[in-house]
Amino acid sequence: MVLSMDRWVGKVAVVTGASSGIGAAIVDQLVEIGLQVVGIARRVELVEKKAQELADKKGKLHPYKADCSKVQEVVKAFSWIEGNLGAVNILVNNAGVAKDTSLVDGDEEDWKSVLDLNVMGLCVATREAIKSMKNHGVNGHIIHINSYCGHVVPNFPGFNIYPASKHAVTALTETLRQELNRLQSKIKVTVCVFYSFYYCIVAKRKLKVFTA
Ligand SMILES: NC(=O)c1ccc[n+]([C@@H]2O[C@H](COP(=O)([O-])OP(=O)(O)OC[C@H]3O[C@@H](n4cnc5c(N)ncnc54)[C@H](OP(=O)(O)O)[C@@H]3O)[C@@H](O)[C@H]2O)c1
Repeated sequence: MVLSMDRWVGKVAVVTGASSGIGAAIVDQLVEIGLQVVGIARRVELVEKKAQELADKKGKLHPYKADCSKVQEVVKAFSWIEGNLGAVNILVNNAGVAKDTSLVDGDEEDWKSVLDLNVMGLCVATREAIKSMKNHGVNGHIIHINSYCGHVVPNFPGFNIYPASKHAVTALTETLRQELNRLQSKIKVTVCVFYSFYYCIVAKRKLKVFTA
């Protein structure tokens, strides 16, 4: 079944981590379809460049500079959206980092920076988006960009806090679904699992170990 995206035309979508990679690609698609997209990132100049490139498309990209690991910056971003664009209809929680660190003798600041963005940043953005949806009576959509590492822990040096943070995203998707259900809300939550080529190699190797 192919679902039409027509009902989202002209509506506001927020994409965190919009300056590169998967977030930038999602922005391209949403602007092409005709949404008003708020692209959040620290390197806002990259989002501004993209906004110029997409100027002749059906929708529009609104660059917004914020560090999503900082609660107040996320709250301020959603307050700017409320004041300038109105109701949030879609939130794509894409911003995420992986740090090469060690649980044996690593720096707790590295651990914290991953958890602050991948877990706390996602929770705060979700809360603010749902607040906007509820205030405006919008049955919107929350999308979490997750990883293979949210379901499997690859045996790879330096990879420790990241899989923990992505397992948290898996759990948070389900607990958000349960909470919204309890509230009889029609807001939807979806999780997208991305595999990189690298993760596939790790997974394949792992499979060989198990089947040997
Ligand atoms: N690529 C893969 O193979 C893969 C596989 C599985 C899962 N994922 C997940 O997919 C998502 C995107 O990954 P990607 O590969 O596209 O990464 P990427 O190319 O490194 O892009 C990361 C994005 O997150 C933003 N970001 C980083 N720290 C931020 C912060 N503190 N505040 C706001 N934005 C921040 C970056 O923007 P600024 O630096 O400008 O702030 C950038 O736009 C992540 O959640 C990642 O875990 C990716």
